[in-house]
Amino acid sequence: MDFLEDLFGLKGKTAIVTGGAGAIGTVMSEALLQAGAGVVIWSRTQASIDQALDRLRQVIPDPDRVWGIQVDTGDEPAVEEALERSAAPWGPPEILVNGVGGNLGKAALTETDMQQFEKVLRLNLLAGLMIPTKVLAAYWIRLDIKGCIINLTSMASYNPLSGVWGYDAAKAGVLNLTTGVANELAPYGIRVNAIAPGFFLGKQNRALLVDEATGAYTPRGKAVIAHTPFGRFGETRELMGTTLFLASSKASGFVTGISLPVDGGYLAHNI
Ligand SMILES: NC(=O)c1ccc[n+]([C@@H]2O[C@H](COP(=O)([O-])OP(=O)(O)OC[C@H]3O[C@@H](n4cnc5c(N)ncnc54)[C@H](O)[C@@H]3O)[C@@H](O)[C@H]2O)c1
Repeated sequence: MDFLEDLFGLKGKTAIVTGGAGAIGTVMSEALLQAGAGVVIWSRTQASIDQALDRLRQVIPDPDRVWGIQVDTGDEPAVEEALERSAAPWGPPEILVNGVGGNLGKAALTETDMQQFEKVLRLNLLAGLMIPTKVLAAYWIRLDIKGCIINLTSMASYNPLSGVWGYDAAKAGVLNLTTGVANELAPYGIRVNAIAPGFFLGKQNRALLVDEATGAYTPRGKAVIAHTPFGRFGETRELMGTTLFLASSKASGFVTGISLPVDGGYLAHNI
């Protein structure tokens, strides 16, 4: 086996990617598949799963290594059932990517809709982290599997972005939970890390960053570019290397509790 295959190869591993039909989840799934893992995409709608499977099966060598389960990751019993089904064809999953999450709208503090605020907390903290993490951790501890979790933090985990109150609070929580859960699960050999993407155009943020009518960047889109030393949005494929590094216990076996920014220098920006 060559050096890179040994360090980053994931043959024989199974990964669950929640939100695996989303902008970032699909690309992370592709990286895991290209490295040899089997991938089960968990998503809320069958249509989104079918679309992602179509795309992935065109680019990976073995189309049978990816499939999908329709599940609401905010529903604990449904997640338990989805885990049982995910383990059936290839054996126990060892990697969990928590790719469900996102933002809904933007408003001044005094205009904030509290139902929407709560919805964003539930999306990112319950569906996007706590429920799948709890269910997989219990399963791994029971079976003595040294699993690996990759969460999705954000630039908002470090410094609030204006007007997205629920998203700011939730992503600060995701960063905090990444550290806390890493501590709790370390004695079982389970690693918990996060990727902190800078700005990548996805379903959740496109409307804030790009004017739908003209295709030009909004003032907020321009502000993001101005604060990104690389002067551009990220390409989702630029998350692939970090995904493989964190997923491979050979490459990052002594790494836990970190959030790794892939942000074109956004967090390093100065004046
Ligand atoms: N796109 C970016 O620039 C960016 C930047 C930083 C962090 N992130 C984070 O990365 C993650 C993925 O972002 P994205 O841009 O790919 O978002 P996305 O909206 O494209 O994908 C999220 C996917 O999750 C699915 N989903 C939502 N709720 C679900 C539920 N309860 N059960 C099952 N599936 C559900 C959606 O249908 C969607 O397919 C999110 O946590 C997001 O906050 C994104």
